[in-house]
Amino acid sequence: MFITFEGIDGSGKSTQLALVARRLRDAGRAVVETVEPGGTVIGRKIRQILLDPEHSALSPVAELLLYFAARAQNVDEVIQPALRRGAVVLSDRFTDSTLVYQGHGRGLGADTVLALDRVACRGLAPNLTLFLDIAVDTALDRARQRGADRMEAEDHVFYQRVRDAYHALSAAEPARVIPIDATGSPDAVAARVWTVVSARLK
Ligand SMILES: Nc1ncnc2c1ncn2[C@@H]1O[C@H](COP(=O)(O)OP(=O)(O)O)[C@@H](O)[C@H]1O
Ligand SMILES: [Mg+2]
Repeated sequence: MFITFEGIDGSGKSTQLALVARRLRDAGRAVVETVEPGGTVIGRKIRQILLDPEHSALSPVAELLLYFAARAQNVDEVIQPALRRGAVVLSDRFTDSTLVYQGHGRGLGADTVLALDRVACRGLAPNLTLFLDIAVDTALDRARQRGADRMEAEDHVFYQRVRDAYHALSAAEPARVIPIDATGSPDAVAARVWTVVSARLK
């Protein structure tokens, strides 16, 4: 079972992933947590390049390829071996993030992103994707309190476009991409998330 957490910055992905991981482990499941970009030693070095505020000159295509380089490493080194062992893999972002941020947000196109996905992931796709949905202003306030990086300094219009793209994705793949109301307390959101996850694991 491969579960991904998606949503704009500050929507609560990392918070909810940790809560699901704990709950699954309490239920006796083997769980592997990963994060994109990152998840591996090599991936974390790529992440540093992507998030460095001095890299404002990073071209959109170079950025796209770096995301997939980190992802290919994560798939081979962490995700596929864990799935083969029978673990539940939880990933904080995956290809859907690249689809909405680079494909739609930066206008590189979904076709390009999906072509690279075939190279990097070779057919691996999430069984379930939790789309944490929240208003852009609320999410940006949360993200700012945590300290902004290069991606989080982007403007409101960009994030609205990204949120719209997530909505389109869940409309196109309703069985996989489940929107979750991400407002309210972390525990309130976690209860909504768990309802979906526990039903899927049965
Ligand atoms: N339901 C919530 N209500 C209020 N603050 C939250 C909630 N969930 C997360 N936060 C806080 O908002 C910030 C962003 O949450 P985080 O889980 O890091 O989001 P993401 O990983 O999607 O960027 C963190 O400081 C976190 O503690
Ligand atoms: Mg996070």
